[in-house]
Amino acid sequence: MNSKPIGIFDSGAGGLSIWKEINMLMPNESTIYISDSKYAPYGNKETEVILKRSIKNTEILLNKGCKIIIVACNTATTNAIKELRRLFSVPFIGIEPAIKPAALFTNTNSIGILATKGTLSSTLFHATSRRYTQNKNVTEQIGDGIIELIESGKLNSSKMMNLLKKYLNPMLENNIDCIVLGCTHYHFLVPLLRQFLPENIRIIGSGSAVARQTKEVMIKNNLLNNDTTKINLEFYTNGSKEIMANLMNWDKSIIKGLDNI
Ligand code: DGL
Repeated sequence: MNSKPIGIFDSGAGGLSIWKEINMLMPNESTIYISDSKYAPYGNKETEVILKRSIKNTEILLNKGCKIIIVACNTATTNAIKELRRLFSVPFIGIEPAIKPAALFTNTNSIGILATKGTLSSTLFHATSRRYTQNKNVTEQIGDGIIELIESGKLNSSKMMNLLKKYLNPMLENNIDCIVLGCTHYHFLVPLLRQFLPENIRIIGSGSAVARQTKEVMIKNNLLNNDTTKINLEFYTNGSKEIMANLMNWDKSIIKGLDNI
């Protein structure tokens, strides 16, 4: 059981930012990653569709023998993880915008949150936000169009830069000193954001916290790999292998196709 892989899925390549943290913290673990790019973005779809895709991705990972599933997608976590936990018996780890660390960090009492429509409008997000950001000034912004640009290989484009400036300028006017990246795709924006955000503004993601939490749950459930002789890292996409590989500076031969889903 313990040498079985960790399963990770996202609506696209964004969850690779979580995979990277998992692999760094637990290099002895085999992993299987699914990029459901064909259906990206999840964020502007009905909850029912997000749930259906999340179940499908989970079934594929379980059929491949995964021992734990990481929902490396804020939108799928906030909209579907409760139901996934009800339907399947393996442990699930979800990811939510890092509102608590931002609330603890801010000195200006002003926080920016960039996330998808699906995350920002979810009940789970509202509950977390209410718990930690009372008496704080929160500027929420839907990152419309960002995932589409990343998934079509236009991360480093002037169109992206213009979108980011449009979305972040109101936050800067509200005197934020930290910005929460509430979508795993947005991790890839950090070098671009650094080009125009003042140095004192902290960019907060959830990747390392999710990796630490995954390890804790695996220790508790006795799931850590104790046979380190064969480690497999597998990556699947139903979208473009090339775009996914480019985001990580990998050769596209590493990525396998996932057809008919
Ligand atoms: N990477 C996903 C997330 O963290 C993107 C969601 C989407 O496809 O809308 O939310």
